[in-house]
Amino acid sequence: MDLIPAPLGYQGFGSTDGFLLDRNTVVDAQPGTEGVARWLSSTVGAATGLPLAPGTAGAAIRLRIAAGSARPESYALHVNADGVTLTGGDAAGVFYGAQTLRQLLGPDAFRRAPVNPGRVWKLPSCAVEDSPRFGWRGLMLDVSRHFMHKDGVLRYLDLLAAHKLNVFHFHLTDDQGWRIEIKRHPKLTETGAWRARTKWGHRASELWTQTPHGGYYTQDDIREIVAYAAERHITVVPEVDIPGHSQAAIAAYPELGNTDIVDTSQLAVWDTWGINQNVLAPTDNTLRFFEGVFEEVLALFPSTFIHIGGDEALKDQWKKSPAAQARMRELGLTGEDRLQSWFIRHFDTWLTDRGRRLIGWDEILEGGLAPGAAVSSWRGYAGGITAARAGHDVVMCPEQQVYLDHRQDGGADEPMPIGYVRTLEDVYRFEPVPPQLAPEEARHVLGTQANVWTEVMENRSRVDYQTFPRLAAFAEVAWSDLPPSAERDFAGFEARMTGHYARLDALGVEYRPPGGPLPWQKRPAPNGLTASLGRPIEGSPPNV
Ligand code: ACM
Repeated sequence: MDLIPAPLGYQGFGSTDGFLLDRNTVVDAQPGTEGVARWLSSTVGAATGLPLAPGTAGAAIRLRIAAGSARPESYALHVNADGVTLTGGDAAGVFYGAQTLRQLLGPDAFRRAPVNPGRVWKLPSCAVEDSPRFGWRGLMLDVSRHFMHKDGVLRYLDLLAAHKLNVFHFHLTDDQGWRIEIKRHPKLTETGAWRARTKWGHRASELWTQTPHGGYYTQDDIREIVAYAAERHITVVPEVDIPGHSQAAIAAYPELGNTDIVDTSQLAVWDTWGINQNVLAPTDNTLRFFEGVFEEVLALFPSTFIHIGGDEALKDQWKKSPAAQARMRELGLTGEDRLQSWFIRHFDTWLTDRGRRLIGWDEILEGGLAPGAAVSSWRGYAGGITAARAGHDVVMCPEQQVYLDHRQDGGADEPMPIGYVRTLEDVYRFEPVPPQLAPEEARHVLGTQANVWTEVMENRSRVDYQTFPRLAAFAEVAWSDLPPSAERDFAGFEARMTGHYARLDALGVEYRPPGGPLPWQKRPAPNGLTASLGRPIEGSPPNV
């Protein structure tokens, strides 16, 4: 069977027998599984043209939640000639079983309408037992560098669900654009959501498009995204990145910046890539402003974890600013790292008081980690190891391994030749739990996520190209019970990918084909310009 991600166990009972789905097949949903029944009839129903209506009589797909103590997100799927019984440890498990059921129906079950109305839809007789390795199986999407419209985000939630991923880390703010409506601070989107021009290529590029770029999600858009995700058992973890990566906010509200040394009234939303000098001023006004932002964020996102960024906050302005230095003295802080940690601690307490938990990039370790904070370990494994050893929860997402903006091949045809070469096989061999961690420390590794930074991805096609097929390999790493890296059966995975490419085709995903980019996926410089589009990193990534 070409299931992806691979289940814990699959047993087939011969190819002649099986369950035929037809117009009379009903979905018998136990209370608590109605959402899965809705998903089946709206998705598999649309692809097959069968009603898959609610009912109990006759041949049925029976959705059940196990009595007792089955693992969350686990499921057992049994198919024979009489029907299907899908039993989940919880509703999420039933949903993942439904995803497996769709894969068993074949690639055309991934379309939005039937291509052959007369065809027979048959599930093979089988028993599948399945349960995920990690509870945090995520994808981070940066919608700041290039905005993705709401429809594109909803589509990505479907793609996550199809790969049994359950966390959507929504990178909503950065120097290049503020993407979430905040009612009490309207200029965040009136001003902060738009930039006058855009760099074409990575930071070393000298090419620009002169077209303004921008957009944002209204609060109703966000509610829709969160509800759509919830129906697919995906938690949306919002990120508002402070105290660095804040130029869009400072451009909208200049008083948020270090006004004693920078004329922030002259700042615009940033129109290039890289690490930005403009960081938030450590004032009470800044704290109150972002408490207001987070109040609206909490009202929109039920996620326990709220991501506050914390990465790449340069300290030069705080070093130079007499006001920041005076604030440090007043707070008794020695060193600018402590000022960063003071920011993070403030919001750690603030979020904890409201029943939420703070998560930030691994720089939040510098100057002392706030008591309840969890860490997204991105600069390698090291931050995650330190945090886990100190008893903090960790999401492993080392840039050397699972940053999907990095090129997929060493060849000259890659449309954006940046970063390390991270092939499909490299991602398949990624191990989220470093061997240095003892078992009781490793328990703090909540899971893993792949990160899609979009400086070099101007549109949905580019995001698809960079994300797929590598997300399929990543999903198997996050879900399946794989052996250690070196022993993983990549050839077997590749063989299963043949069937999975057909599913991605049916879904309309513009992945990188195994043989390399298609002609229109390559990216020659415009107008014959030959300026460098990016800076590759040679050699293998260090295992740090
Ligand atoms: C990051 O890549 N700056 C988290």
